[in-house]
Amino acid sequence: MKLPTLAGIRSLYNRLWRYRRPRAVWEAWGRSYAADPYLSKHFPQDDWLRETLTTRRAERVLEVGCGTGRLLDFLLHAWTNPHRPRVVGVDFSRSMLSAARRVLGQSPGLALSDAIALPFQSKSFQWIYTHGCLMHLRTRGAVSGALRELCRVAADGFLLIEETPPVGSELPYPGFTPNGLAYYWDYEALLSEAGCRVLEQRHFRNIETVGCWVVGLPTPDSSTRTRINFR
Ligand SMILES: C[S@@+](CC[C@H](N)C(=O)[O-])C[C@H]1O[C@@H](n2cnc3c(N)ncnc32)[C@H](O)[C@@H]1O
Repeated sequence: MKLPTLAGIRSLYNRLWRYRRPRAVWEAWGRSYAADPYLSKHFPQDDWLRETLTTRRAERVLEVGCGTGRLLDFLLHAWTNPHRPRVVGVDFSRSMLSAARRVLGQSPGLALSDAIALPFQSKSFQWIYTHGCLMHLRTRGAVSGALRELCRVAADGFLLIEETPPVGSELPYPGFTPNGLAYYWDYEALLSEAGCRVLEQRHFRNIETVGCWVVGLPTPDSSTRTRINFR
């Protein structure tokens, strides 16, 4: 029998740790995340987000899973007065939010919150966007719950940007995790189950494959379906 290598044991340990304590991973990572040249990079989907969001009228915009404030900073410079909305970011990691505060100061509101229980009243923001956050939820039910919160808190719609499996891959999907931290979810099926309408979509191929969706909110008819599906 082949004995496991030290690298193999370490990799297994890391995967288990990430699986069992996802928030602790972000708390630890928040201290160095902003200094990582790849993670603080400018991605093609950022331009798509800017073009899609800044052409919509909004008085209030929310980012869910804002991390170190990379996108809040980018977008705040894209809007010009008098059309600049009030912008708020939430994240469930204190250390990521501290990094965001160092970059952004007090300009956007920042709050500690889990994506599946947003601390806002219904329809508080015309548009919400989320980039690379829902892909870190480890169950399909949690992703459904987060989509339900986006539908509740948005007044007009939301923009969803998440990693998806490479096109044509035969990975065990949905739910496959390439690294124990990000998961591939079937967003289009999840959105349809939530009664949402996909208004526009794009895919970008960077090192990862990334799906981008502009999502319209459920109508009163489809919200009945939503309640049944989420039970
Ligand atoms: C890959 S980073 C993306 C950060 C930022 N959106 C960006 O594009 O630079 C993922 C972020 O989602 C946050 N996150 C993961 N799960 C979350 C959850 N359940 N609720 C709120 N934030 C979460 C992490 O703390 C982390 O800051």
